[in-house]
Amino acid sequence: MNLSTLSAPIGVFDSGLGGLSVYQHLQAQLPYERVIYFADTLNVPYGNRSAQDIVRLTELAVSWLVHAGCKLIVIACNSASAYALERVRTLYPAVPIVGLVPALKPAVLASQNKQVAVLATRATLEGELLARVINEYATPHAVKVIKYFDADLVPWVEAGMPTDAPPAKRLREMLNVWTGQGVDFLVLGCTHYPFFRPFLEQEIFHKNYNLRIVDSGKAIADRVVSLLKQHKMMNRNSSDIVARIEAYSIEDVVHRPAKVHTDLQAPALQFYYTDISHEAETLQQKVKQLLTGSTNF
Ligand code: DGL
Repeated sequence: MNLSTLSAPIGVFDSGLGGLSVYQHLQAQLPYERVIYFADTLNVPYGNRSAQDIVRLTELAVSWLVHAGCKLIVIACNSASAYALERVRTLYPAVPIVGLVPALKPAVLASQNKQVAVLATRATLEGELLARVINEYATPHAVKVIKYFDADLVPWVEAGMPTDAPPAKRLREMLNVWTGQGVDFLVLGCTHYPFFRPFLEQEIFHKNYNLRIVDSGKAIADRVVSLLKQHKMMNRNSSDIVARIEAYSIEDVVHRPAKVHTDLQAPALQFYYTDISHEAETLQQKVKQLLTGSTNF
């Protein structure tokens, strides 16, 4: 492995801001890696789209990240992983690609009541990956899996999660319903959702519910660390990472090759987005706000 590959960026893809919840874990475990983030803000949310549409959009995003020179790619989107993970792995066999599936396995193994709820998008709940985990873990352990989706949750996160909005009210109600049904584990099966985990935990604490929450963020970062080690691609040169976040719009995903910043002064996180009607400055602020947890609950 040559030096330029070691310092090549990691690619992270999501339909919008949600993948930043995975980035937080990557950054904590891999502070010396530079990340190129592709947010398909023009087409978010993916959760209500057809499988065909999700595959098409994921192929475009991953192709863009591959051409940007990423040494490893994380599809930080459960909905995209559910339909397109195998496809992009086939298209780009030389690049390790990590996908996401709701963290049902640890919830199933730890549930005392044998009842867990999975909160995810419709696409993820209907996808093949989740069905496989249910068959492999929940069914043999006789654990009941309650699936729930609310199409407004992803737009709510993208909008900064105002606590007086209807999705917040519905989440409070659902915590009550699940607890009443004996659910003792709630799986957050969408990368947007960890951003409102503090909101859920506050409610659980105040109402004294017997409910624990799990998400996939840390396990994904662990997997990335182990793949980088396995492929001997870990960047150990701390000096060439500048702790800065910058946002840039992508004018043309299909025809223009990615022109990412790779010089020594390149920021640690380059946040590329597809809805060019948005101001880079505004996006940059939103990204920073989510990463520093400065959302008020
Ligand atoms: N963060 C994506 C996921 O994990 C969001 C899905 C969407 O865009 O609906 O599924």
